[in-house]
Amino acid sequence: MMFSNKTFLITGIADEHSLAMYAAKEIINNGGKVVCTGLGVSRFHENLSDKAKSFLNKNFEDFKSSVHNSLGDAMVEILDVSLDENIEAFAQELAARNIKLDGFLHAIAMDKTIRKKEVKPLIDVTLDEFCDTMNVSAYSLIRVTHYLLKHDVLQSGASICSLSYIAAAKVTFHPYRNISIAKAALERITVELADELGRKHGIRVNAIRFSPYMGSKAGNATLKEEDVATSHKMSPLGNALPIDLAYEIAHLFRPESRITGEIRHVDGGYNITG
Ligand SMILES: NC(=O)c1ccc[n+]([C@@H]2O[C@H](COP(=O)([O-])OP(=O)(O)OC[C@H]3O[C@@H](n4cnc5c(N)ncnc54)[C@H](O)[C@@H]3O)[C@@H](O)[C@H]2O)c1
Repeated sequence: MMFSNKTFLITGIADEHSLAMYAAKEIINNGGKVVCTGLGVSRFHENLSDKAKSFLNKNFEDFKSSVHNSLGDAMVEILDVSLDENIEAFAQELAARNIKLDGFLHAIAMDKTIRKKEVKPLIDVTLDEFCDTMNVSAYSLIRVTHYLLKHDVLQSGASICSLSYIAAAKVTFHPYRNISIAKAALERITVELADELGRKHGIRVNAIRFSPYMGSKAGNATLKEEDVATSHKMSPLGNALPIDLAYEIAHLFRPESRITGEIRHVDGGYNITG
């Protein structure tokens, strides 16, 4: 099978509706193994409010049970990419268990300027809001890769894939403002890392722009029904489905391919319209 003896890190599972969950299932269906990380309270969190603690605890419980129900005995770990020490400790934990990765999926985004589906005007975004979104949604791709390489967990020839959105390049019918800028950075990081890591380690780095999808927590918090309907109408094939995305991720994870530095579209052709 395509992924026999291959192990991939899957970040960004919140529950069974997360886009990352579809990718994890596809890897397992093709004979691979997955290590899954979810947001939770780590030993590196300090001064968490009770509210934040209970949010993170619930998040981790939902994550764990959905992994257990959908992926069986896959390894689960806490990873908050806003905490550098957490990323390094996670990489060290994998190294201690002698786990070698053949790639990883970055499926992490956060933007507190979108609340109850309303997007804050860019002109009012604070430095903290800007940097937090950039840190979690874009810079984390560099940092996770850095520590996985530092601790010799990410193997030569591995494949890295991250999830983006057309708003990285174009103002759409649903302007995302702050997160769009982080997605643009994520895509640029993808291209720079593809060059740097391709030459040094034969590691591939690609990003996929996916259709709007309301099934996930992030999608449901940001999108309105009419946005998804508009995109569906404008896309020659209609909106792409999570399974279409999972197939493309598996394709990019395929061992020994020579595809790198790509910003691909899995969007039913939305990108060619408008
Ligand atoms: N839903 C869509 O319409 C859509 C479209 C294109 C791209 N994407 C991208 O796909 C990815 C996954 O989103 P999804 O739609 O599956 O939603 P989701 O809510 O299931 O996933 C988002 C994940 O980000 C994680 N996360 C947030 N802050 C984190 C942190 N500090 N450390 C670690 N993890 C953190 C959350 O725990 C969650 O698992 C995101 O990058 C998103 O921007 C989504």
